[in-house]
Amino acid sequence: MTRGPTTYWDYIKVEEILDLQRGIDEREDDLSNDEVVFIVVHQIDELWFKLALREVVRLRDLFAAEKVREQSLASAVRSLRRAALLFEQLASHFVLMETLTTRDYLGFRDKLLPASGFQSAQMRELEILLGLRPEERIPLGHERSYLDALRHPDGSISPAYRRVEARLADYPTVKEALDEWLYRTPIQGSMPEQAGDEATVLRFLEAYAAAQAGELESVMRVAISQAPTEEDRRRLEARYRGEIANARRFLFAEDVAPELRARRVRVRAALLFIESYRELPLLAWPREVIDSIVALEQAFVIARQRHARMVERVIGRRTGTGGSAGVDYLDKTALNYRIFHEFWAVRTLLIRAAAMPAVERPEVYGFMTGE
Ligand code: HEM
Repeated sequence: MTRGPTTYWDYIKVEEILDLQRGIDEREDDLSNDEVVFIVVHQIDELWFKLALREVVRLRDLFAAEKVREQSLASAVRSLRRAALLFEQLASHFVLMETLTTRDYLGFRDKLLPASGFQSAQMRELEILLGLRPEERIPLGHERSYLDALRHPDGSISPAYRRVEARLADYPTVKEALDEWLYRTPIQGSMPEQAGDEATVLRFLEAYAAAQAGELESVMRVAISQAPTEEDRRRLEARYRGEIANARRFLFAEDVAPELRARRVRVRAALLFIESYRELPLLAWPREVIDSIVALEQAFVIARQRHARMVERVIGRRTGTGGSAGVDYLDKTALNYRIFHEFWAVRTLLIRAAAMPAVERPEVYGFMTGE
């Protein structure tokens, strides 16, 4: 069948979109401008979630491949940047919500009960797909789990519940796929399946830890020499010594169960190696991937914090329509919903280029010597 000439309204579905702000009683004429703003901003944000989900699925698929091709890393970075930008845009929409005064919002808030943003299936899908585990979730403060909150009021299964359930069965998560990719990263030219790989990785980490300790000790000496009191000197020394001990604990994965340690050590060494030697041609894109993951998580956290401040401004610290502790609950999610802990943790350990251990076998990373 041939299609006639395309019109803007058919392609964008303008009439359909404009017909979606009728509210719970299906009568747009009865709604205040405030309520229509409230509905539209949520609708836009759900569309932003939709776009972000598409990018994150694409990213996961690229990294879930048996062999992650170097060419796919640039596409991965593009997806990550777009997803982060979507969250930045979303956070900026909260300014618009702040044009609602408390009194205006209270004018229609009761219609929402017991609905809540935590019934946003797409937000849950994003968290799950990135790698947030059910046991890491903050309790909502009532007997229902985050999944049960997605049921219809009569307890039956809703489309939102089905979406989230399907996402829980959708493996691997971005975190798992990236973990596998990082695990396979050559470190000092050595691959995990090669003989002597473990010794090479440990040698690299020992050298790096020694260099990092040396760097901190020299900063510590300066700081101590400038401290005004003996008390301050002691405090500073304890702080720097603690930082050196924490670095070793992290690098040698002493915080992890012994059976999981070897893998964590290699993944953490890979993160450190990529961040440190990003000038090596083969590490340039991996480093962009890592930085873009950090940027995406940062955008997520800022959006959560921004939402909490907007909520505090509009409704104060009262109980949420969904029955949670409101702002207190939201602040806890902003603080605790972190997925890529190790990507951030490595930043604490990085040192000046001049102090880093030398790279062995740079030719493995496409480094052209003698030119
Ligand atoms: C006046 C505007 C808003 C108020 C007062 C508000 C208030 C709240 C409160 C109190 C919660 C905690 C759960 C509860 O007990 O209800 C919550 C959760 C949530 N809200 Fe909002 N919200 C507003 C606008 C928005 C907008 C525009 C979005 C964009 C999508 C949004 C997305 C969410 C999400 C995703 C959650 C779940 C957070 C989580 O469980 O991690 N909210 N909101």
